[in-house]
Amino acid sequence: MRGKIKIEWARRMDRLPPYLFATINELRHKMRQANRDVIDLAMGNPDRPTPPHIVKKMIEAVSDGRNHRYSVSKGIFNLRRDVAIYYKNRYGVELNPNSEVVACIGSKEGISHMALAMLGPGDTALVPSPFFPIHVYTAIIAGANVITVPMNDPRAPHAAHEKGDGSFHVDGFLGRLSMAMKQLHPTPKMLYLNFPHNPTAYVVEPDFYTEVVKLARKNGICIIQDFAYKDIVFDGYRSPSILAVPGAKDIAVEFFTLSKSYNMAGWRMGFCVGNEKMCSALAKIKGYYDYGHFQAVQIAAIVALRSPQEIVSEIAKIYERRRNVLIDGLNRIGWPCSPPKASMFAWVPMPRQYRKMGSMKFSLMLLEKSEVAVSPGKGFGDDGEGFLRIALVENEQRIRQAVRQIDHVLNLRPKPEPVKKSTRSASS
Ligand SMILES: Cc1ncc(COP(=O)(O)O)c(C=O)c1O
Repeated sequence: MRGKIKIEWARRMDRLPPYLFATINELRHKMRQANRDVIDLAMGNPDRPTPPHIVKKMIEAVSDGRNHRYSVSKGIFNLRRDVAIYYKNRYGVELNPNSEVVACIGSKEGISHMALAMLGPGDTALVPSPFFPIHVYTAIIAGANVITVPMNDPRAPHAAHEKGDGSFHVDGFLGRLSMAMKQLHPTPKMLYLNFPHNPTAYVVEPDFYTEVVKLARKNGICIIQDFAYKDIVFDGYRSPSILAVPGAKDIAVEFFTLSKSYNMAGWRMGFCVGNEKMCSALAKIKGYYDYGHFQAVQIAAIVALRSPQEIVSEIAKIYERRRNVLIDGLNRIGWPCSPPKASMFAWVPMPRQYRKMGSMKFSLMLLEKSEVAVSPGKGFGDDGEGFLRIALVENEQRIRQAVRQIDHVLNLRPKPEPVKKSTRSASS
């Protein structure tokens, strides 16, 4: 008998760090097993069901045997055509359904395979930081190097938030981006963008894209813009598409998904649209990896995109009300933070008196003592340290309860000044 056979993972696995949220997940799991009622605001997993008209179409499509075969890897033509119509109506962007639209098994799958098709050893990708982990690690898996570009001024990352202005200061970021593009040799090949942004919820206006496209074209850099939260917008804000900038299609693709806009996260339906060469790279690599999404899901996706879109605003309104409850509540208990304009998250600076502890320990303490799970900013890269990401994925009542439980543990409200003893006698 031979000795125990040693099984080794591929070397590229060594470039993936341990999963930073594992300790929190483990503790949450243990607490639940001990019947403790954890209010879970950690993961951006939509908690509401898919609208009934989409479910109804899915049931019909699933009952039709013609949909049980392998489908088309880049998506059936009718779906790609409807995506093109949707983009034209919504953003004024013309897309050729044959060459500028690819359907993906969720945008995460599409973004990952795009990295594999476009990046390799010797290539560099620029990723704004803090970052959604797949933007960094799919490039790393592809063998590329990643340079992060801080979104906030690295000398004072909390400054804007502490002034009660949680917005993103675009000019500083554009300056850092321009510097990275100019100074790095070889010039980076890819820039990842993601607005509205996860985890920070930062948003941009169309002129930001005009500037970025100008910079990228000048330096010969491609762009992947992840538009996952395009519809989860508040206070009248409208999120622009990068592809609406003239010349953007020469260098950029945009990924969008039905996961958040239609509460369809489990259905795994996303899209890549834009630059023809990048779309064909994705379509080619997908041709080797998969046979396309289950056709019934693709047919239900057509119904989602074609039907009246009021349902999407209703979904956003639910998050907006939850946002108000959370932000008002935290401010009331003495934890200053400002309301995000979009996404399913609040990006909240840690209370000053706890910052030394670090976001990881602080989140574990919150979970253990207040039974509220949030994500530590550090999980989104070093530039996320000192912040927490709080997902709006429980109802208003539960969020109110979470704030009460946090209040009870942190006790942040300034204590009232002790009443000074009067030096005069009571009779005077
Ligand atoms: C920024 C961002 N991009 C992509 C995704 C993945 O979306 P999908 O469900 O389409 O794979 C998520 C999911 O949380 C996300 O937050």
